[in-house]
Amino acid sequence: MQTNALTHRLAAEADLPALHHLMKRAMTNFLPDFLEPEQVEASFEIMGVDSRLIADGTYFTVFDGDALAGCGGWSRRETLFGGDHTFGRNPRLLDPVGEAARVRAMYTDPDHARKGVGRLILKLCEDAARAENFTRAELAATAAGVPLYKACGYAPMRAWDEVTSTGVPVPLVLMGKGL
Ligand SMILES: CC(C)(COP(=O)(O)OP(=O)(O)OC[C@H]1O[C@@H](n2cnc3c(N)ncnc32)[C@H](O)[C@@H]1OP(=O)(O)O)[C@@H](O)C(=O)NCCC(=O)NCCS
Repeated sequence: MQTNALTHRLAAEADLPALHHLMKRAMTNFLPDFLEPEQVEASFEIMGVDSRLIADGTYFTVFDGDALAGCGGWSRRETLFGGDHTFGRNPRLLDPVGEAARVRAMYTDPDHARKGVGRLILKLCEDAARAENFTRAELAATAAGVPLYKACGYAPMRAWDEVTSTGVPVPLVLMGKGL
């Protein structure tokens, strides 16, 4: 794993076009190893940019030199997964006493896979959530995300199929970790 060349900063609204592009590349490249083609297509309904995270200052971008290598963040709000277009948004603020911070929308550009980008973003998220007194983090993992989260200490809690508007079941796993 090589992390030395990686730098990071909070995402800004001006990053939105690049983030959309990166997410599409990540999903198109990584999901087919784990899902059927119709599930990859359906995943676009329940994944993508959540601009609320950018507005909240809880979304990170990671660069390898000048290249955007990945993005991901955390949230002090109830929404567990999905993009701006995904149904069931809930902006309620979580109570750090008894509720888990969310880890959200992790994507690595395929040209920068397995360089520790995901691992770095998780650490940034965990440190930031801890600084706001959260003692636990939880997330809804895609099949493609499970190996990263397991490697970083997240334990599976519950698995389910999220059925999209086209009737396609997409497997997700609720995972969690003490901070
Ligand atoms: C999940 C994702 C963000 C991982 O990004 P990454 O930057 O390549 O991950 P890292 O380099 O930090 O990996 C850290 C560790 O996680 C594990 N890991 C990550 N990707 C893996 C894979 N495809 N297969 C097996 N293990 C994997 C490994 O243990 C790895 O350590 P190693 O490289 O030293 O063996 C990336 O694959 C992705 O964008 N997937 C598509 C979008 C998605 O599904 N995101 C998750 C949303 S919940």
